[in-house]
Amino acid sequence: MILMDLLCHPVWAISTVLLALVVRLQRRAKWDPRACEVTLKGKTAIVTGANTGIGKFIAMDFARRGARVILACRSEARGSAALKEIRETTGNSNVHLRLVDVSSLDSVREFADRILAEEKALHILVNNAGASGLPREITKDGLEISFATNHLGPFLLTNLLLDLLKNSAPSRIVTVSSVNHKKGQVDFSHFRGENLKYHMDTVYNHTKLHNVICTTELARRLQGTGVCANSVHPGVVLTEVLRHYSLTVRFLFNLIGFFFFKSPEEGAVSSIYCAVAEDTEGITGKYFDSDCSLVLPAPLARDPALAVKDFEICERLTSKL
Ligand SMILES: NC(=O)c1ccc[n+]([C@@H]2O[C@H](COP(=O)([O-])OP(=O)(O)OC[C@H]3O[C@@H](n4cnc5c(N)ncnc54)[C@H](OP(=O)(O)O)[C@@H]3O)[C@@H](O)[C@H]2O)c1
Ligand SMILES: *[C@@H]1O[C@H](CO)[C@@H](O)[C@H](O)[C@H]1NC(C)=O
Repeated sequence: MILMDLLCHPVWAISTVLLALVVRLQRRAKWDPRACEVTLKGKTAIVTGANTGIGKFIAMDFARRGARVILACRSEARGSAALKEIRETTGNSNVHLRLVDVSSLDSVREFADRILAEEKALHILVNNAGASGLPREITKDGLEISFATNHLGPFLLTNLLLDLLKNSAPSRIVTVSSVNHKKGQVDFSHFRGENLKYHMDTVYNHTKLHNVICTTELARRLQGTGVCANSVHPGVVLTEVLRHYSLTVRFLFNLIGFFFFKSPEEGAVSSIYCAVAEDTEGITGKYFDSDCSLVLPAPLARDPALAVKDFEICERLTSKL
């Protein structure tokens, strides 16, 4: 009771609001997409997981810049709702929905086949779709579901679209990773669901580390092609990202997040910066923080030998042979 009284005291309320304001001012990115006039007319962009959260606002920005935007979503209903919203908000009717479940290699192959058949060019690919806290499951490809969703599916998708990206150069690949990659570990048996502990975001953290490692290696392989590949941290963003966690965890996330976390629109900024800004043209193999600054990723993500090995294992796991 005393605790409740204390918490409800006006001094508490006022200081929380003030602190929230200070946090808001401090975390403001040094780049404002609304002040950036780069146009994407005549360009084509794909954003995975574009029906909600961060992805929806990335797609919205590209549509506002006049791009042909492909929303790569797994649900027809949720995807169509976002399609309608983005078309209406931006007035751009060249926005389209294509279905893909990135956790399924077959679905990724089907999606890529259709893109290769229908699209003449591809200038931006944003690997945004991702999930945290998924319960343990092995997919029909024999892969652990969090790794399939956050890393191996997007890895295959990127590789299948690589020739189109090269032919459309200059082009950019952005992978939405997370600062959580710093707590991740590399153990190649994880991909098949071995030696994993399912405690809070442990598995998620591992998957986000592979995002950064393989993006760096991809960039090395793409030197001289005009295709850039970078990864970003979007910030701590109030989205549906914790939908697989308990009610208590979600309640706390939303309560604290209401005051202190970024909105999905703010969370989209570092990805948009990486995908369209003039400042980032030609930058490749790097990791951007949520305020758009270039920062070093975790030591494991800077080990070139590990990256070569990781990339090769991921290639093998996603190939048909
Ligand atoms: N929010 C944060 O604080 C935070 C922090 C660091 C990094 N991130 C990263 O930011 C990215 C976007 O997350 P968010 O916060 O916007 O979360 P979100 O609101 O949960 O949105 C995730 C998006 O990914 C899609 N998705 C999930 N699994 C998929 C699959 N198998 N196939 C196709 N699409 C799939 C979801 O589609 P459905 O709606 O159909 O499920 C949804 O569109 C993720 O990669 C996440 O790891 C987020
Ligand atoms: C995952 O990463 C986050 C952010 O760095 C960290 O707070 C959390 O403790 C990590 N989870 C585990 C289980 O290591």
